[in-house]
Amino acid sequence: MVRDIFSTVTKRYDFLTHLLSLYRDIAWRRFTAKKLRRGTTRRLMDVATGTADLAIEMARRNPAYFVVAMDFMAEMMALGARKLGEKNLLHRVCLVQADAVYLPFPSGTFDAVSIAFGIRNIPDKMKAIREMSRVVAPGGQVLVLEMTRPGHGFFGRLYVFYLQKVMPLAARVLSPNPAAYLYLADSILHFPSSSDFSDMMKSAGLHSVKSYALTLGITHLFVGYKEDEQCGVHGTP
Ligand SMILES: C[S@@+](CC[C@H](N)C(=O)[O-])C[C@H]1O[C@@H](n2cnc3c(N)ncnc32)[C@H](O)[C@@H]1O
Repeated sequence: MVRDIFSTVTKRYDFLTHLLSLYRDIAWRRFTAKKLRRGTTRRLMDVATGTADLAIEMARRNPAYFVVAMDFMAEMMALGARKLGEKNLLHRVCLVQADAVYLPFPSGTFDAVSIAFGIRNIPDKMKAIREMSRVVAPGGQVLVLEMTRPGHGFFGRLYVFYLQKVMPLAARVLSPNPAAYLYLADSILHFPSSSDFSDMMKSAGLHSVKSYALTLGITHLFVGYKEDEQCGVHGTP
């Protein structure tokens, strides 16, 4: 179902994502790339990379690094490849087609692994987080950027109205598959609260999990660390 949804919105994905997030998605990805901590592998991975925006930001900020941009949809990655070519990054960013719950890399390959607006679409979230944690090196980082439902105050209610009424209307006019945006709204409303999701990351074996509320809490960045085998538990940055 997720593949079907993204295959119908691929061509307009970037445009619609910028528009429906009021262009905040660019700042959110930038914030995520800034929080990234370098280690010794000099390798980073962006899971569910879509059209590779976060992978590009990661490569731009870390010129000595090699970045894997991974997704299971070839159509989205083809657009990403075009952007990477335009930015002259194809020698440092490698596109890999795979499923987030079976990452085709040995344990401890990367300093950090990110996922932006992707975990919401993965039914077995715990398995995906465990996989991301497996492929980071000891002491490495897992970063999850995701749209979340803000609290129940005035802004929270306004946002739910936007998701349930305004976004589907805009999508009906602008998108070839309005159902995709109904699904998007529904998946945001049903995403775990920030504290429940932080607990999920801890249950997956990550420690010092921190969540950053962005734009009044409509998006959160969650950052967790894999235990460092040499030091017991790795210190927070
Ligand atoms: C909302 S888009 C986000 C794309 C990008 N990360 C961004 O920041 O715009 C979600 C992406 O997750 C991918 N995806 C969903 N489930 C996946 C899975 N199990 N394995 C790999 N990619 C997946 C979809 O193909 C799609 O490209």
